[in-house]
Amino acid sequence: MKFSQSTVLAFAATALAAPSATTKEQPRQAAVGCASAVTLDASTNVWKKYTLHANKFYRDEVTAAVSALSDSSLASAAAKLADVGSFLWLDTIENIGKLEPALQDVPCDHILGLVIYDLPGRDCAAKASNGELKVGEISRYKSEYIDKVVSILKDHPKTAFALVIEPDSLPNLVTNSDLQTCKDSAAGYRDGVAYALKQLNLPNVVMYIDAGHGGWLGWDANLKPGAQELAKAYTAAGKPKQVRGIATNVAGWNAWDLSPGEFSKASDAKYNACQNEKTYVTTFGAALKTAGMPNHAIVDTGRNAVTGLRKEWGNWCNVKGAGFGVRPTATTGTELADAFVWVKPGGESDGTSDSSANRFDSFCGKEDAFQPSPEAGQWNQVYFEELIKNAKPAF
Ligand code: GLC
Repeated sequence: MKFSQSTVLAFAATALAAPSATTKEQPRQAAVGCASAVTLDASTNVWKKYTLHANKFYRDEVTAAVSALSDSSLASAAAKLADVGSFLWLDTIENIGKLEPALQDVPCDHILGLVIYDLPGRDCAAKASNGELKVGEISRYKSEYIDKVVSILKDHPKTAFALVIEPDSLPNLVTNSDLQTCKDSAAGYRDGVAYALKQLNLPNVVMYIDAGHGGWLGWDANLKPGAQELAKAYTAAGKPKQVRGIATNVAGWNAWDLSPGEFSKASDAKYNACQNEKTYVTTFGAALKTAGMPNHAIVDTGRNAVTGLRKEWGNWCNVKGAGFGVRPTATTGTELADAFVWVKPGGESDGTSDSSANRFDSFCGKEDAFQPSPEAGQWNQVYFEELIKNAKPAF
């Protein structure tokens, strides 16, 4: 990797201005990309050199939210969210259109986070995020979705990208293979993820495959099959150089290093040694290594500030009382954990609570799920304000 003199100075300035990496907020910057092509070395932690970019779409959502606050005492805190880096979800073919505009303000020392999320038969074990492509539409996934993203990334070699590959997909094949919907989706998931990894293997890209979280693949019985499922996709893709490892806790609620872990008093806790994400990253990381896959992790801390909210570990929808967690940082204290990042843009819903909607999932109607909530991905103003009030560290 080459850095210009001014880039090096920019890093130094950032370090001086923000002694605590966990509370770092980003100044607005106008520069676009680097002076020359970016090469990311996926055998290293790229987050030590690049800051997760506060993308335009989340910034715009936050700006709109600031002008719609029901509690005006939150105004200055809310405005700060616009400067926190988070991932941009390319969740439909149409939303690939968000990519070009989001690229326009990424400076050389920032990395644009993208979520690749449009597999056929998406969200096979739930309903809230069922996608636009039907089971069997794998050729559309390849040609109308992945190929389109690839061509845009190739057109922008001077910008760095971090990709989270297809949340929930492979984990669902490990633990929900008894469901007919997941049986139907399985072949497309495996083919699609391998295709995505192979085609997106570009020098300016680093990739992390979604690996659920400690309460999912962290169960003793799931560790090995989980690692093998991910490693199989990685191998089928030809072991792409730009794969760095896994993303965990995406849109999730688990604490990083709470000990004893949040569900360690549950009757089945003895079957899961991964009671927080730190132990999960370490334990699953070892299983990945055995299975022959790169095993570094990024961990979503966007909404994990408050624990003790979920009645059951598996409850995933708009958890009531949640707060914004640790800001994106490469200071994790654990070598296998490259960075804490915000993958789920806090304020966007996990799923609708309207029981008459097509994509209503019963989890979004549970006692510990915030209601009313709009469709997945739609802005939930009241929930956003709650996340600010409960944020740790506070804004
Ligand atoms: C959910 C939605 C998706 C949205 C994402 C981020 O998974 O299904 O549409 O982009 O969350 O909020």
